[in-house]
Amino acid sequence: MGSGLILGIESSCDETAAAVVERGAWTRSSVVASQIAMHAPYGGVVPELASREHLRNIVPITRAALTGAGCGLDDLEAVAVTNGPGLAGALLVGITYAKALAFARGIPLIAVNHLEGHIHAVLLEDRQRRLGGTSLAGSEEMGLPMPTLALVVSGGHTHLFLARPPVSGAAEFGAWQYSLIGRTLDDAAGEAFDKVAKLLGLGYPGGPWIDHLAQFGNPKAVPFGFAQIKTKAHLEGKAPRTKGARSAPIADLDRHFLFSFSGIKTAVLRYVELHGLRESCEVRRRALMAMSESGRHPTWLDAQGLCDQQTLDLIASFQHAVVGDLLRKAFAAAEAVGAASVLVTGGVAANRELRVRFTAEAAERGLPVAFPTLALSTDNAAMIAAAAWPRFLAGEFAGWDLEANPRLALA
Ligand code: KG4
Ligand code: ZN
Repeated sequence: MGSGLILGIESSCDETAAAVVERGAWTRSSVVASQIAMHAPYGGVVPELASREHLRNIVPITRAALTGAGCGLDDLEAVAVTNGPGLAGALLVGITYAKALAFARGIPLIAVNHLEGHIHAVLLEDRQRRLGGTSLAGSEEMGLPMPTLALVVSGGHTHLFLARPPVSGAAEFGAWQYSLIGRTLDDAAGEAFDKVAKLLGLGYPGGPWIDHLAQFGNPKAVPFGFAQIKTKAHLEGKAPRTKGARSAPIADLDRHFLFSFSGIKTAVLRYVELHGLRESCEVRRRALMAMSESGRHPTWLDAQGLCDQQTLDLIASFQHAVVGDLLRKAFAAAEAVGAASVLVTGGVAANRELRVRFTAEAAERGLPVAFPTLALSTDNAAMIAAAAWPRFLAGEFAGWDLEANPRLALA
């Protein structure tokens, strides 16, 4: 029996990550170098800076992952790498490095879709919990009932997939199957958090700031609504409006499972203007920026002290509306496709209100729900190495001509 060790490499956006995972079930190490501080002054990820940082970090991060796992390159059975979707230049750094390592060691290269990786972050931890420190020879039976309805919700994606484990006899053998059930037509949910936070003068990325501040506001203060998505006929032939949304067709999807988050961002902007809050947003932005520039990283308390009650209410109402929309559509989709469980993953899955409300709704429906731990909610490489394991067993290897695919679709 081989070592079962796969090195995962992830560089699709603004995190350089490497991890060693044993048999898709046991994280031996997971190292992430975040570029958040570098991109923060620009209010978003700057692709050129991201590629440069990945180049700088990829070797030390991989070395740290190997050291953390207590193994060397000779112990690896394969190298797995994210080949899309993501930023072309950023993906290329990881792919080129993964290819070089695999080629030099004479071991297989495995390509993993970033969205599939996010889904496997939850499956990995689910297996890990069940194995609970016991031997890997223990039961490999899935804990989360299958098929599962997966909501992948991050800064670049808002997708609903029905995920099914490999059908062949051995539970872990062969590739998982994914059917696209729903998706956003424009902004991703995380993008809405980021844009609204920016508009309110808060830091980047916006999700964690909004998550914290929302606790102190009244979620019912501003009744934000989501307009019904128009009929399929209306959407047919129309190109989705964002890069992220271009990677999959929408015409075949049930409109009840389509999302649109650009409207609520505009509604928040209108509220700010109508209620004369523009000036105070600018004051907040300058105050937080001044703190950063003086070398004192602003805390939640600083931000809270700079928000009046009306702003806190606005923030709470925005988050309540977005979480409510995600919740309604995810559970409606789970019911429509007969999913046996719900899984939420991606950066926005870190959100407290989202976890509380999804957990309550799932309990009411008697449907199990799973989230990744906070460390595996945002981008990491353990999820890439874990997703690669069934492909490794099935012998699904990538060629040496593997390329970055910024719009790679899953399903
Ligand atoms: O998965 P991720 O690290 O990167 C992408 O693949 O996009 O997700 C980052 C996104 C950002 O938009 C960030 O604002 C959002 O996840 N996010 C949150 C929270 N933590 C991160 N959104 C809401 N609440 C949070 N606690
Ligand atoms: Zn991601």
